[in-house]
Amino acid sequence: MAKDKLKGLILSGGKGSRLRPFTYSGAKQLVPIANKPVLFYAIEDLVDCGIRDIGIVVGDTGEQVMAAVGDGSRWGVNITYVQQEAPLGIAHAVKVAADFLAGPFVLYLGDNLVLGGIASFVERFRSEPSNCQLLLRRVSNPQSFGVAEMVDGHVARVVEKPSRPASDLAVIGVYMFDQNVFSAVDRLQPSARGELEIADTIQYFIDAGLAVEAPVLERYWMDTGKMGDILEANAVVLDALHPANEGSIDSASRVEGKVILEAGARVENSVLRGPLIIGREARVVDSEVGPHTSIDHHCLVKGGRIADSVVMESTVIEGVGPRIEGSLIGRFVELRGDGTGWREGCLCLTLGDHSSVRGCA
Ligand code: DAU
Repeated sequence: MAKDKLKGLILSGGKGSRLRPFTYSGAKQLVPIANKPVLFYAIEDLVDCGIRDIGIVVGDTGEQVMAAVGDGSRWGVNITYVQQEAPLGIAHAVKVAADFLAGPFVLYLGDNLVLGGIASFVERFRSEPSNCQLLLRRVSNPQSFGVAEMVDGHVARVVEKPSRPASDLAVIGVYMFDQNVFSAVDRLQPSARGELEIADTIQYFIDAGLAVEAPVLERYWMDTGKMGDILEANAVVLDALHPANEGSIDSASRVEGKVILEAGARVENSVLRGPLIIGREARVVDSEVGPHTSIDHHCLVKGGRIADSVVMESTVIEGVGPRIEGSLIGRFVELRGDGTGWREGCLCLTLGDHSSVRGCA
């Protein structure tokens, strides 16, 4: 089957238990990094590789994912949704998408972020006669990932979250397969944790003597599955963005460093320390924002100081005296101080959607 007709498959189901409380009310793949859902980076990476047919596997949060992504026309691609009844494993998701895929494809885990995209790797897969390509990344905590054991420069084994990793080479959440993958996932048995494992799928390729390429990625990669990872990824992506101003800043405000104001964002009597992004129709008034901070669309920050944080859409932060740092604040949150007694120190917050916090003297 021709590799020039590559499709894409993005996984956006699963549980997201490490991202509670956000995943009580939303899909983890929709958590914003620099005001854009993580999932959109995966879509854009596939689009940049010339892929036009993309399947998205969804689970319980499918409706939200479909509402956010739509039919793909905004990226000029066709998006097909594939429902997975339960999160029974990454290889299970491939199995339920087999009819859609029918041939070679790029599998992208919807909570992974690769700075600079994957185009060179996909090009290599298209032009070389390999059956599978994994991307590896050296990490300091390999026991949290699938880990590749290398022999003579080739992958000999892949083990899922080993307690004693054979190397520091994590298998990141971007894989390329030819049609042999369908025989592989058909033959798999559930692992001890009850899932059809992607590691076992790769092992099938290795054991069958099929050609498995495994280049090592040198660029920034993040599995955004945990709270701290999101703040880190947000900072790294903000660092890489170009400044832009589609909003307005009044003359009483001061801007330092790289700042992005999205359409209709308004800044009044405030200090902005880039890198940071202020979303569509958001307002920042009498405040100090940044660095490494994302304020999403329709938020209001008034009389506050906030740094190294992600604030999701339509949230209000008003009259809060202490500086907010290293915080992940959900959608439609109300965080209000009375502007007098609640003044000292700093706050480090994890607030799920629709939370409400009030300070008083
Ligand atoms: O990030 C790279 C790691 O991703 C790899 O090193 C591991 O080998 C691989 O198993 C995976 O580990 P995670 O523990 O991060 O997988 P997680 O359960 O978070 O699922 C990854 C994505 O796939 C996530 O967006 C949810 C989605 N998913 C997952 C499962 C198990 C589904 O859509 N359906 C599923 O059944």
